[in-house]
Amino acid sequence: MNILVTGGAGFIGSHIVDAYIQEGHRVVILDNLSTGKREQVHPDAAFYALDLMDPKIKDIFEQENIEAINHHAAQISVTQSVANPAFDAEINIVGSLKLLQLAATHKVSKFIFASTGGALYGEQDYYPANEEHPTNPMSPYGIAKLTVERYLNYYRENFNIQPAILRYSNVYGPRQDPHGEAGVVAIFCKQLLKDQQPVIFGDGEQTRDFVSVFDVVNANLKALSENCTGTYNVGTGEETSVNIIAASLIKASGKVLSPQHNPPRMGEQRRSSIDYGKFNRDHDWKPVEPLDEGLKNTFDFFAQPSPAQANLK
Ligand SMILES: NC(=O)c1ccc[n+]([C@@H]2O[C@H](COP(=O)([O-])OP(=O)(O)OC[C@H]3O[C@@H](n4cnc5c(N)ncnc54)[C@H](O)[C@@H]3O)[C@@H](O)[C@H]2O)c1
Repeated sequence: MNILVTGGAGFIGSHIVDAYIQEGHRVVILDNLSTGKREQVHPDAAFYALDLMDPKIKDIFEQENIEAINHHAAQISVTQSVANPAFDAEINIVGSLKLLQLAATHKVSKFIFASTGGALYGEQDYYPANEEHPTNPMSPYGIAKLTVERYLNYYRENFNIQPAILRYSNVYGPRQDPHGEAGVVAIFCKQLLKDQQPVIFGDGEQTRDFVSVFDVVNANLKALSENCTGTYNVGTGEETSVNIIAASLIKASGKVLSPQHNPPRMGEQRRSSIDYGKFNRDHDWKPVEPLDEGLKNTFDFFAQPSPAQANLK
């Protein structure tokens, strides 16, 4: 298959590209390298350094015989979405819509969309949240993801688009950008490698559902199959506190450091976990990477000197 992966130079997208190429697909990457990295672009992929808003994107559809779209490019910072909701909406809503419209025009029906669990469900009524849980996004970022999900349903009804909407929990693993304000695992790795205490905001008992990027890649392999359409949570169903993440990474680093607690961040969600039962029943997906092992592997990745690690300095 010829697959267009947007955001394919980024953290999750680059791992998906690796797996698709490994499976024998031809991959075309669209990425403006705003947070993605040139060295993460797979050498066997065709690469277009374009912004989602660039009208030249239509050339990709005219030249590359695209048969499936995997849409991971996004403005991913919740804080940035609060500071500049119009910019967030421009990239995450309008940019997605432009892609959808091109998909409809060029009759590309398979459309995989990277959505979010935590930011969509908000403070949950029950744990873990299944796909039926009410959506209550508390940030422009979450509102934008939900809006695109609704557009996808509109395009499914009217333009024969077959969407596979994957609602991720907190994805962690090698290549995550340690400079963002999200991605606590990457941030702690970076602090530990600089012999700094991991900084925890608040008491550290806030929980998240941490899923390995390699399990997320498997979800994207399943999502490619023709019969995989609909909305699916991609998480572990487990809640893990930030204190436990810090302790596990300190252990992995072998350093004698303890976390530093800073004042809590305003409006930070207290707990989050999502139920992957539907994806498991329909497509036999389940997370397999044990958290401790995944955290250790992630720390080891960041500890290795490589071009991709130049940004740690
Ligand atoms: N990391 C997580 O825990 C998580 C959780 C839920 C959903 N997601 C979603 O998964 C997707 C990938 O996230 P990630 O964590 O890999 O982040 P990332 O920042 O590493 O990847 C995003 C990629 O999109 C590119 N990009 C950004 N704006 C663009 C634009 N206007 N035009 C073209 N390319 C652009 C960036 O350069 C980057 O390569 C995003 O849609 C994000 O919302 C991530």
